[in-house]
Amino acid sequence: MSIPTEQIISLIHRYLKTSDTKAWSRFDDAFDWPNLSKSEEIQRLTDVQLAAVRTSLMIEDHIPGYATEYFRLFPVDDTVPKDAAWRNRNMLHFVFQWCAEEDRHAHVFETYLRATGRVDQEDLTREMIHEGAKKYHAPSDHFSLLFTYTMLQEKATQLYYQMLYRSVEEAPVLREVLKRLFQDEARHCSYFSDLVLLDLRSQGDELVAKIKTALDSFAMPMADLLDNYKRQAITMIRAARGYDHRSAFSQLDEIIRRYTESSARSAAYPLEDFFTAVPNFNPS
Ligand SMILES: [Fe+2]
Ligand SMILES: [Fe+2]
Repeated sequence: MSIPTEQIISLIHRYLKTSDTKAWSRFDDAFDWPNLSKSEEIQRLTDVQLAAVRTSLMIEDHIPGYATEYFRLFPVDDTVPKDAAWRNRNMLHFVFQWCAEEDRHAHVFETYLRATGRVDQEDLTREMIHEGAKKYHAPSDHFSLLFTYTMLQEKATQLYYQMLYRSVEEAPVLREVLKRLFQDEARHCSYFSDLVLLDLRSQGDELVAKIKTALDSFAMPMADLLDNYKRQAITMIRAARGYDHRSAFSQLDEIIRRYTESSARSAAYPLEDFFTAVPNFNPS
């Protein structure tokens, strides 16, 4: 990684400073779990909305797999030079916090589903164990591409939860859950965006070209692992009216714009190149 360690540390401190004050409780009073199954909300929640929450849970709940990959990619032992170990140790301050936040997303979705009284408890447990056992591989071992993919995944997830939030107007508890989640995802996206920008500034136009090529193979996490992913993805889109995964690419456009504004050398890679790459992205 070519970003100077002191820049990474300062970015991580900025993230932690905010996230330390943004923590929320899965046992918040806004979530009346014991009474949810008797509420009006449960009568109004459609089967499609319920299925979308269930798929979101399976994706979020793979956090042990995502975390394992990040620990593999940022070792602090003597297999790496001391300066890399120090950079990795600092990266892990972010990773631990990020994983705790993602784990809370999974747990709050699970708690919600179980409290609705509309899922078979044992069947949900069986599915979570089944999906959780699958081996996850990071989309790339190349840091720059890994950060770019993750930034896009965070943005797509943020936008998805926002659109689902708007679509479930008659489910106040689910809306409270989704509001907290899309705010978290926005912070995650912002962190990875800043990381990609620092990376671009340290590597220059060569990286712009690499990112452009990598977009062709971009996919959402678990797209190649979840059972019947295509069917589940279609249900998710039906549940969140107006969601368009391609909107996530506007975030990349924004980062490239910020980079080009600070680099006279990047004129060789016009923004249009990124727009033409967008249709290749397919979440299913
Ligand atoms: Fe999440
Ligand atoms: Fe996230």
